[in-house]
Amino acid sequence: MNNRQGHSGERVFVLDFGAQYVQLIVRKVRALNVYAEIRPYDTPVQDLLAQRPKGIILSGGPSSVYEEGAPHPGRELFEAGVPILGICYGQQLLAHHLDGVVSPGGNEREYGQQTARILTAGKLLEGCGSEMQVWMSHGDRVTQAPSGFEVLARTEHSPCAAMGDAARGLYGVQFHPEVQHTPLGQKVLSNFLTGVCGCSGDWRPESFIAQSVAGLREHIGDARVLCALSGGVDSSVCAALLDRAIGDQLLCMFIDHGLMRKGEPEELGEVFGKRLGERFVAVDAKERFLGRLQGVTDPEQKRKIIGECFIRTFEEESAKLAEFRYIAHGTLYPDVIESGGGKTATIKTHHNVGGLPEDMKYENLEPLRWLFKDEVRQLGLELGLPDELVWRQPFPGPGLAVRVVGEITPERLEITREADAIVREELRAAGLERQVSQFFAVFTDIHSVGVMGDGRSYGHPIVVRAVETDDFMTADWARLPYEVLARISNRITNEVRGVTRVVYDITSKPPGTIEWE
Ligand code: XMP
Repeated sequence: MNNRQGHSGERVFVLDFGAQYVQLIVRKVRALNVYAEIRPYDTPVQDLLAQRPKGIILSGGPSSVYEEGAPHPGRELFEAGVPILGICYGQQLLAHHLDGVVSPGGNEREYGQQTARILTAGKLLEGCGSEMQVWMSHGDRVTQAPSGFEVLARTEHSPCAAMGDAARGLYGVQFHPEVQHTPLGQKVLSNFLTGVCGCSGDWRPESFIAQSVAGLREHIGDARVLCALSGGVDSSVCAALLDRAIGDQLLCMFIDHGLMRKGEPEELGEVFGKRLGERFVAVDAKERFLGRLQGVTDPEQKRKIIGECFIRTFEEESAKLAEFRYIAHGTLYPDVIESGGGKTATIKTHHNVGGLPEDMKYENLEPLRWLFKDEVRQLGLELGLPDELVWRQPFPGPGLAVRVVGEITPERLEITREADAIVREELRAAGLERQVSQFFAVFTDIHSVGVMGDGRSYGHPIVVRAVETDDFMTADWARLPYEVLARISNRITNEVRGVTRVVYDITSKPPGTIEWE
C-alpha cells in the first residue's frame, strides 16, 4: 500500500534510530499542523527524497555513533539540501558525519532538567530568551561542532547543546524538544518547521479527508471494497471515509455475535443503515456463536471459538455478496509503528477478534494507518459520525464473552447487558464518561445471598470495573465518587433481576488486568 492513500501534502519525516520518544516527536510536529511520518533509519535516502519532504528529523536513540553496528542513515542525506534537525543521538550523527567531534560523557552525563544558556539564537532558538530549561538524557555529547556550524546554546556539561548551520539548514539539539519537561520545546520545533523548512502549517486531521479521498479513489479505481464493521471507532471511521471516497463500491458488513452491549447493534444499524442503505449488511449470527459457546467456561477457549466463528461467518457471508478486491481495516498508526516502525505492513492483530483470515484472497486496505487515535476521532466527527460512536471506549472483540465469568448463557448475557447499561448511564449522568478510560460490569459465576422482601434470595454478584489509563498497558482503578457508586449499586440491585450484590473492583494493572477473563 502506498503513501498516497494516506497523505499527499507537505510532509516531514522522522527517522527512527530507536528512540523511546519517536511517536512523541511525530505527535508534536502534527500538533504544529505539519504532517509527519516515521521512517526506519535505513530507508534509502533516494526513497525519502522522492517524496519531497520539507524537512527531516533524526530521532534520538540508545547507541553511540562511533560504536560498531550503530545505526547510521545514508551519508548522502546530509548533502541532499533538505533541512535536518538532529535530536540527541540525531545531533551526534550530524557531528559525526560532518567533521565534528562526539565524545563519551564520562562523569558528565546529563539526565533530567538542565539550564541551557543561549549564545546566539539563530533561526532555531529564536524567541527562547537567553536561558531555557531543557530536558537531557545522554551519555555522549558533541564536543566540537562541524565546520560551518555555529554553537547556539550550551549547558554545564554540553558545550554544544544546540548548533546550526543556517546556510545548509542543518540543526542539532542535544536536548529533547518533544518532551514536556522542555517547556519551550514546541517553540524550537516550530522554529525549525516554519523558519528553517518553510512549512506552511496548514495540515489538519480534517485535511486528511480531502487528501485521502483523492488517494483512495486513485488506488482503488473501480474495484469493490468490503469493510467489516465492529462498532468501534476505528472501523466506523474507516467505513465513513471509504463511503466518502468510493460510495457505491463499498459494502460494510457487521456480524452480530450476540455479545454486544445493550443498544449497540441497533445504534450501528441506525447510523450506518441510514448512511449506506443497502450497502450496510448486518449478519445475525447470534445463534451460531452462542451455540458454539454453550458449556464453555475457559476464557481462552471462548476467545478461540469466537475468533473461528467470526472468520467462518465472514467468509461465508462475504462470498454471498459479491466479488471484492479489497478488504478494509481500521489499523491505526501506533499499531503500524509497533509492528516495525512502518517498515513492514504487518499489522499487530493483538487478541482482536476483528482480525480477519490472513489467507483470504482480498488485498488489504488501511486508510487510517497514518493516524493516531485522537486524530481518528476528529476525523470521525468531521465525517459526521455521531458523538457517541466517536467517543466510544474500547470494547474487546469477544465482547461480553470476556465479561461473563464461567458459562455464557442468554440469561447471563442479559443480566450483564442490563447492569452494564446502568454503569454507563450513571457515569454519563455524572459527567465522567470521557474522564474514565474504560468502565463496565462483570457477571460473576458465584452465588451470594441477599434479602428481598421478607425472604432470603440467592443471586449473582455483579462487579463494577472502572479504570484510568493512557495506554491500556497499565491502569489504575478509577476513584469514582461514592455517590456515583451508590447509585450504580442501588439501581443494579433494584432493576436487574438475579443480582443481589454489587462490588467495586479496586485492583490496578498490574497485577490485575482490565478485563476479568
Ligand atoms: P487487559 O484485560 O489485557 O485489557 O488488561 C487491555 C485492553 O484490551 C482489551 N481487551 C481485548 N480486546 N480482544 C480485544 O479486542 C480481547 O480478547 C481483549 N481482552 C482485553 C481490554 O478491553 C482493554 O481495553
